Amino acid sequence: MGQKIHQLISRERVRQRIAELGTQISKDYAGKSLTLLILTNGGIFFAVDLIRAIQNISVQFECIRVSSYRKGCTSSGNPEVFGTLSVEDFQGNDILIVDDIVDTGNTLKRMCEQIENFGAASVKVCALLDKPSRRTVEMHPDYCGFEVEDKFVVGYGLDYAGKYRELPFVGFIEQ
Ligand code: IMP
Ligand code: MG
Repeated sequence: MGQKIHQLISRERVRQRIAELGTQISKDYAGKSLTLLILTNGGIFFAVDLIRAIQNISVQFECIRVSSYRKGCTSSGNPEVFGTLSVEDFQGNDILIVDDIVDTGNTLKRMCEQIENFGAASVKVCALLDKPSRRTVEMHPDYCGFEVEDKFVVGYGLDYAGKYRELPFVGFIEQ
């Protein structure tokens, strides 16, 4: 039987907010070239729309698969990184790490540290959602779409056991 999903942030509000983030990022990186590091799977939906909202600067991207959820909704607290990144894609470059949500903060903290170790010129973080009440490590996204309360959210790239990523809005599962 299907679960009932309640809409939290409409497709139109998501679209509008991503346009604003694109404008802000374009201003902040004016005259520079930017490399996005997209964390998959969750971050791709947001990142693709964000890239198209960035104007007048040169943008490149790399992807890496990171997973910290075994099944369902409890984080293992220890993000697993699948695949490798090449130092030359990051060394000396301005990097913006893009993910769907900052929850405990472990994933983004770990990725920031790795990219800093590669000798990036700058490392910043952009997340569609931020759930600050769940934070266990220090991590504050430089760019954030929306703050959400402590509910397990799905849609717009976010999944529950692999499902609901395709929803065009952000919602939560009825308990
Ligand atoms: P972290 O706890 O900040 O390391 O977040 C790890 C990952 O857990 C995020 O990149 C998301 O993919 C996933 N995640 C955290 N909270 C939620 C949620 O409410 N719904 C779906 N995925 C989530
Ligand atoms: Mg994720």
